[in-house]
Amino acid sequence: MAVKKFKSSLPEGTQIPVHIGMIMDGNGRWAKKRGLPRKIGHREGAQTFRTITRHAKNLGVKYFTVYAFSTENWRRPKDEVEAIMDLFEKYLDEVRDFIEENIRVCFIGDRSMLRPALQEKMKSVEEDSKDFSAMTLLIAINYGGRDEIVHSARKLAEKVKAGELDPADINEKLLNDNLYTAELENDIAPDVDLIVRPSGEQRLSNFMIWQAAYAEYYFTNILWPDFKPADLEKAIIAYSDRNRRFGAV
Ligand code: FPP
Repeated sequence: MAVKKFKSSLPEGTQIPVHIGMIMDGNGRWAKKRGLPRKIGHREGAQTFRTITRHAKNLGVKYFTVYAFSTENWRRPKDEVEAIMDLFEKYLDEVRDFIEENIRVCFIGDRSMLRPALQEKMKSVEEDSKDFSAMTLLIAINYGGRDEIVHSARKLAEKVKAGELDPADINEKLLNDNLYTAELENDIAPDVDLIVRPSGEQRLSNFMIWQAAYAEYYFTNILWPDFKPADLEKAIIAYSDRNRRFGAV
């Protein structure tokens, strides 16, 4: 079978971020503009998620983290939360397609509050894709950056209590190495290089607040369901044109 070869339209020499974080925002407004229920916006957003994840891999991104559901999103109407959870279950079956594309799938966030059937599917996708290496897709579900830091602090406190750790030895590396992003099989996701937020909002909303300490940000007014591969490329070109100094001169 002939394999369609991917042709990148990025200018030669474009610096590809190792780790991109994507805040998939604007599904509700996309639906409202068309007089449709919000859950249709999420359904369209889920399609965009598939397309953009593939494109990120084809461009050579190594870690791609998507903000799918935040610790604050439980405050939405019950039927909308249910519809989003249904979509996750459906798409986790389809996420298996990614496996054929050599994409490792992992999840970050507090899973304990999710439906048991969803937790099972998450575990099995992680297990089945663990050896794939073209790109790591991190799906943040019931994720909050502050919650993640609390989670890390609690793990360290337990080690102190067990007499395995001296509080004086707690440093940035140890805190980092106990975040959700450090719980991947034999791997720790690196700091995020570029955070993209569509839909016109210009804030982090508790997304990877630790890992984003030196990230570049790219905002666009496009609503997530309308976000196209070319928009991802625009964000990467903008990133590549910036001069990152990490606090040095
Ligand atoms: C934000 O838009 C979007 C969400 C809270 C849900 C995102 C979920 C998906 C795109 C499905 C992805 C599927 C998988 C398997 C990862 P919003 O509702 O806040 O939009 P608004 O700001 O216009 O109201």
